[in-house]
Formats: sequence, C-alpha cells, structure tokens
Amino acid sequence: MTDTSAKATVGIGLIGSGFMGRCHANAFAAAPGLFDLPATPVKAMLADATEEIAQSGASALGFERATADWRSLITDDAVDIVAITAPNVLHEPMALAAIAAGKTVYCEKPLSTTAASARKMTEAAEAAGVVTSVGFNFLRNPMIALARDLIASGEIGEVTGFRGRHAENYMASPDAPHSFRTDPQGGGALADIGSHIISLARHLLGPIAEVTAECRTIYPDRPVAVGAAERRPVEVDDMTHALVRFESGVSGSLEANWAATGRTMDLSFEITGSRGAIAFSQEHMNDLMVYSGSGAGAGYRRIEAGPSHPPYDRFCPAPGHQLGFNDLKVIEVAELIAAHAANGSCMPDFREALMVQETVEAMQEASNTRGWVRL
Ligand SMILES: NC(=O)c1ccc[n+]([C@@H]2O[C@H](COP(=O)([O-])OP(=O)(O)OC[C@H]3O[C@@H](n4cnc5c(N)ncnc54)[C@H](O)[C@@H]3O)[C@@H](O)[C@H]2O)c1
Repeated sequence: MTDTSAKATVGIGLIGSGFMGRCHANAFAAAPGLFDLPATPVKAMLADATEEIAQSGASALGFERATADWRSLITDDAVDIVAITAPNVLHEPMALAAIAAGKTVYCEKPLSTTAASARKMTEAAEAAGVVTSVGFNFLRNPMIALARDLIASGEIGEVTGFRGRHAENYMASPDAPHSFRTDPQGGGALADIGSHIISLARHLLGPIAEVTAECRTIYPDRPVAVGAAERRPVEVDDMTHALVRFESGVSGSLEANWAATGRTMDLSFEITGSRGAIAFSQEHMNDLMVYSGSGAGAGYRRIEAGPSHPPYDRFCPAPGHQLGFNDLKVIEVAELIAAHAANGSCMPDFREALMVQETVEAMQEASNTRGWVRL
C-alpha cells in the first residue's frame, strides 16, 4: 500500500468486467463515502479477455488502465488487491499468481472448480500469509447478522432443525444456453448457487459433518451459445436436494436449484428451535421473520431492517428504506480494505470457501454413490 497523501491509498486490480466485475467496481467506488476506511481504493487497472473488452470496461467502470494480460495486472506495482471476477476455471491460476506476487486476493465464489484446487489455493495463501476474501456477499446482510445474534443469544432456544434453499429460475428454460456455469469442471447449480446456501448454513449453524444428496439434470441438452440451434449435452446438475447433519447434531435439508420456475432469488432458510424459529428469503432481504413461542400460537413477526442493524446506518438513517444486493458487496469491500490494511483475516476467507467446496463435492459424491458422505 502506498501512502501518497494524508490518507493512504490502496490500488485495485480488477479481473473481469461482467456482472460481478461491475458489482465490484461499484463497491470499490462507493465504500469510501459510506465507511471510515483506513485507505482509499484507487481503481488502478482492469483486465479482461481481450484488449477491446478491457478498454471499454475500464472506461465504463473508471479504471486508470486496461490490459488483456491478467498476469501483468497482478505484477503491476500499482495493484495491491487483486479482485477476481473471471469464470471459475480461471480462479486457481489467477489466485496462485496473485499469492506469489504477495497481493491480497479477493476471489469470487465458488473458490475453484474442485476441492483439490481450492485446497491448493488455500494452502498457498496461508503459506504466503496474504489476506484472502471470497465473495459470499449474502453473509454481509445486517439481517443475517441479526439472525446469528438471535441464535447465539438463545432467543429461539435449542436449535432443532434447518431448511435451506437457493432457488432461481435463470436456467428454468431448456433453451437457456451453456456458459461457464454448465462447465463439467466445477459448474452446475450446486456449485454455482448451492455454494451460497452452504456458506450461509455454516455461518449460522457451524460446520457440516455429513451429507447425502441427489443431483439431477432436468434438461439433457442446451444450446451451445445464446440463440444457437446446435445443442450439446448437459453434464451438470440443474437441481440438487441434500440432507445434512451439522457437527452440533442438528439435521436439515439443503436445495440448490437454478431451474426453479417462478423463483428469482430464493436464497432462504428456516431455522426451528425449542422456543422459536427464524425465517428469511433474499427475495425480501430487508426482513427477518421471527417466531417466539414453543407451541401453537401467533405466527411469525416481521423485523424490518433499520439503522439499529449495523451497518445499515452507514447507508441510511431511516428504517424501511431498504438495502439492496449491491450494498452487500459494498459492505464486503469495506471489510476487505480494513483487513488488507491490518493484514488481518477477512471472513469468509479461502479456508472457509474451501470448506464450502468440500461440502459441494461431498454432496456430488453422495449422489453418485447413493449414500452418506462424511466431511
Ligand atoms: N457473489 C455473487 O453473488 C456472484 C454473482 C454472480 C457471479 N458470481 C461469480 O463471479 C464470477 C464471474 O461471474 P459473472 O456472472 O460476473 O460472469 P460474466 O460472464 O458476466 O463475467 C466474466 C468476466 O470475465 C471475463 N473473462 C473471461 N475470460 C477472461 C480472461 N482470460 N482474462 C480476463 N477476463 C476474462 C469475461 O470477459 C467477463 O468480463 C464467477 O465465479 C461467478 O460464480 C458471484
């Protein structure tokens, strides 16, 4: 990090300018106005697959320089944090190069295509002592922090069960085309969005000890590209249903489903306890539903996000005005910059994302062997 003025700056190198690249760029731009950061991010360099995409991404997203060579971005002296938003199969080589260069690595989820690859990345990062962070941004929701606090404080008594789901409809049509998301190397609904509900389950209830699952392909083939007549077989799951047992002994179910007709963002859970229950869906991300009581009685009450649920107050002084998806990335980036400056930990880090990846793989193995797999 270079201290060029009264306040230090931190150079950002962004790889990829697609959906997540834009989201990262927006977060790095917004974070200093909303949070008291130890350093101000400078959008130093953007890399993409070609010179043309990189140039247009850099000018649209406000980066100083552009390159079609992500390796030169990583070794550039102006880059302190490498943000990886390229397709999953590129995460490993990009992260390993960034670790070798001693840079802080901010990688999108899933960490990689296999648990072995994710382990290699984690061990390299830990050996080098670099700060790592993985984009499980849904954990940054103040209402998720509230749910965690309520569980820890005993508000719902002893936890008795967990039902979790990440369901969307972006692959619900048989004509939704192939992309890196259907790559047999690390693609599929379970890796793509199941990783989010697994990370959320672990965040709320701790490690998962054992799983069984059924991974299903609903549509046997899809167009090779947008609008193409040619079709190619699908080798990954469209839908996975799993049973899980947490190390605490609590059991539950998890679903990953990108062919969930009618659902746009049902990253949701319901946690039952001996004295109450908590329910949430990202489709209503500013609400936490809480039930207090052990037997029959009044239903759930809705707790609305407001300034008493930090860091909502950083964005807005009034309740009910609502945070959005991109705000979660701003919170994630603010925590990343604080960790980078302190050379401290930034959860969920590579190690945590490795645990998620191992859970994905255990579910795939359980589906293949039609049995239970211990983690
Ligand atoms: N955290 C979340 O909520 C969330 C949401 C969506 C995607 N993601 C993750 O983000 C990553 C990217 O997904 P996306 O939806 O942004 O995809 P995308 O296709 O919109 O963007 C990918 C970008 O990477 C670029 N790219 C491809 N090859 C490259 C190369 N060799 N060098 C440099 N750049 C290259 C593409 O040109 C594109 O700009 C994936 O790992 C995905 O799982 C996370």
